[in-house]
Amino acid sequence: MKRFNLFFTMFVALLFAQVGFSQTMVGTSHDFSGDTWNATGEICIVCHTPHNAITSVAEAPLWNHQVTAVTNYALYASSTTNATIGQPDASSKLCLSCHDGTVAMENFGATNNGTHFMTGPSLVGTSLANDHPVSFTYDAALATTDGGLWDPATHPSGIPGSGGTIATDMLIGGKMQCASCHDVHNSGGVTSLLLKSNAVSALCLTCHKK
Ligand code: HEC
Ligand code: HEC
Ligand code: HEC
Ligand code: HEC
Repeated sequence: MKRFNLFFTMFVALLFAQVGFSQTMVGTSHDFSGDTWNATGEICIVCHTPHNAITSVAEAPLWNHQVTAVTNYALYASSTTNATIGQPDASSKLCLSCHDGTVAMENFGATNNGTHFMTGPSLVGTSLANDHPVSFTYDAALATTDGGLWDPATHPSGIPGSGGTIATDMLIGGKMQCASCHDVHNSGGVTSLLLKSNAVSALCLTCHKK
């Protein structure tokens, strides 16, 4: 019996040690459970629904939040850019459905007349001209033309616990998106909901050969 208790204690201890590695959304900026405008008190429902999901955005994961109607964002441009930067698509369009400030937080499910819009430093707005570009293809050809980028197909992402490459861990359908740098669900527990720490610019140096 003593021995059983010992093993049981060890098992429970291991279980908790395991849980300690993966962080959750609870308590992050995306935990909306305590917001006055979220009557349900649920976290996921503000963005996802198991039924009757919005399908107008390609690859939207069972999406429940009203999608931004903006189609003419000002885009980043420079004489040294080699990428063909398009209007935000896929998951970046979902981020901007709160972060461009045009759609209210509580506009999910059947609600479409909310009054709580994004303000403050998290407001990205409808001009992306001063933001790192997203929604363009990042492949070996771009890396060669640019000269200062790693080949995403072979260069490791360096994300703790993953042996994957930039392409497998950071690009979505071969494209650079907001989610190439951010983890909306805070899986890694890194500040600013980043995919990996940017200490000593580690995040930037994952792709940029500088
Ligand atoms: C603030 C909005 C937001 C909230 C809240 C949110 N998600 Fe997501 N979720 C997204 C976005 C955007 C994507 C697509 C981009 C990505 O995967 O990073 C996504 C993708 C997913 C996916 C598919 C891809 C993957 O990561 O496996 C699953 C499953 C998922 N979410 C589950 C959940 C669950 C469960 C909750 C609640 C605990 C939740 N999400 C809360 C925005 C959200
Ligand atoms: C349902 C609305 C909603 C969606 C969709 C959404 N966000 Fe947010 N996000 C918020 C709110 C609200 C905050 C907190 C703003 C504040 O504190 O003023 C926030 C904060 C953040 C922050 C700052 C985190 C911090 O702690 O400093 C980042 C980064 C972020 N979001 C990235 C994303 C990305 C990337 C996506 C898409 C993959 C996304 N968000 C989708 C509503 C949303
Ligand atoms: C190339 C990487 C990268 C991309 C792409 C990216 N971000 Fe960020 N973002 C960061 C970093 C790093 C920070 C941490 C704070 C900083 O350095 O400004 C950040 C901070 C933020 C914040 C918090 C701002 C604050 O001052 O509190 C929000 C909100 C945010 N990002 C949203 C987005 C959205 C939405 C997109 C897509 C349109 C996006 N990010 C694309 C790297 C990126
Ligand atoms: C997931 C890969 C990835 C990450 C992470 C990343 N970038 Fe980029 N970045 C790119 C790609 C690809 C381009 C497009 C380059 C081009 O068009 O020649 C780019 C473009 C840029 C540009 C514009 C270059 C120009 O010619 O105008 C700057 C500056 C930049 N990134 C800085 C950063 C910084 C700073 C960080 C960290 C906060 C960062 N990047 C993180 C992939 C990344």
